[in-house]
Amino acid sequence: MKKNRTILITGSAGFIGFHMTRYLMAKNWKVLGIDGITKNYDVNLKQARHALLSKNKLFTKYEFLLENKEKLLNICLKFKPEIIIHLAAQAGVRYSIENPEIYLRSNVNVTFNILELAKKIKVKHLLFASTSSVYGYNQKLPFVENSNCNRPLSFYASTKIASESMSHAYSYSYGIPISVFRFFTVYGPWGRPDMALHRFTESILNDKMINVYNHGKMKRDFTYIDDLVKGAYFLIDTIPKKPSQKRKTFNNDSLSEVAPWRVVNIGNAESIKLLDFVTEIENALGKKAKKNFVKMQIGDVSETWSNIELLESLTGFTPKTKLSDGIKTFVNWYKNYYQ
Ligand SMILES: NC(=O)c1ccc[n+]([C@@H]2O[C@H](COP(=O)([O-])OP(=O)(O)OC[C@H]3O[C@@H](n4cnc5c(N)ncnc54)[C@H](O)[C@@H]3O)[C@@H](O)[C@H]2O)c1
Repeated sequence: MKKNRTILITGSAGFIGFHMTRYLMAKNWKVLGIDGITKNYDVNLKQARHALLSKNKLFTKYEFLLENKEKLLNICLKFKPEIIIHLAAQAGVRYSIENPEIYLRSNVNVTFNILELAKKIKVKHLLFASTSSVYGYNQKLPFVENSNCNRPLSFYASTKIASESMSHAYSYSYGIPISVFRFFTVYGPWGRPDMALHRFTESILNDKMINVYNHGKMKRDFTYIDDLVKGAYFLIDTIPKKPSQKRKTFNNDSLSEVAPWRVVNIGNAESIKLLDFVTEIENALGKKAKKNFVKMQIGDVSETWSNIELLESLTGFTPKTKLSDGIKTFVNWYKNYYQ
């Protein structure tokens, strides 16, 4: 029988880590999942995700903070992951206004620990999550990987830019193949309670007012979780090559001239008005929202929109889920889960 491939997923009790782990186990991967079950949102939801994953024998779970790099190294020396997907982080723009220090620890320090780990255990490929927020004050839309990302508008974005930058230096210095994902507003079942879809659904069902930021003029590229996971999965074996190797490059390729390092947008390549997003939620719930129009919050960008040509060239994959379908699936899950 073919040996199971091995992978470390950090942030496995998180929204994306949970789905990524399920997808990989369905493809027979042995997954080492590590998550510190941090308290930025409902820990019961994180624990429920981990409990569900633990039903599968291919899953090995640890719950501790990744700041503990000795423990991380010891576990990985035994498990020997051939690949790492690093998703653990303190996510979200708004929380970074109130709690910047957590971002420094969970994003910058922890990414450093993961880079050190990747160097020590010599992984075949390290892939990690960055965000569309790194495009910050970027006027050129849709966002292309090669554009300048030196005008972040939130501290969250700057910690992700720092992580991207540190990863390039490690890739160059130690020859570690690294792919950086830039995710665009991910949504779907088991989604984060601090994100708009979850908050709006909860408020509409409970007859509460929803805050519509930037007076409804915000636009977001919403990516359905299954599409995101597939895109990320295809990139696992799309390993950036060293400059000394024979390399194929594509239009707008972000492949580094000097290192086996690349950054890839994973989005839906569509910019949707916030009010249209709300209408889809209303349709799925069969109920109107009470809207409170407010100004844009500090740190937010008014529009995100991904150019995904690079993802398509590298993997042949194009996200296809329609927003209305994705929202319906979320609402069904929400009603079931919170019944
Ligand atoms: N969801 C999105 O729309 C989105 C968009 C862009 C980028 N991202 C990035 O994708 C990744 C996953 O996001 P998500 O939406 O699943 O978030 P999430 O908060 O649901 O998952 C992150 C997980 O990491 C864990 N974690 C945080 N700090 C930790 C630490 N110091 N040690 C150990 N575990 C820790 C948390 O407990 C959590 O379970 C993050 O890196 C995030 O920045 C997400």
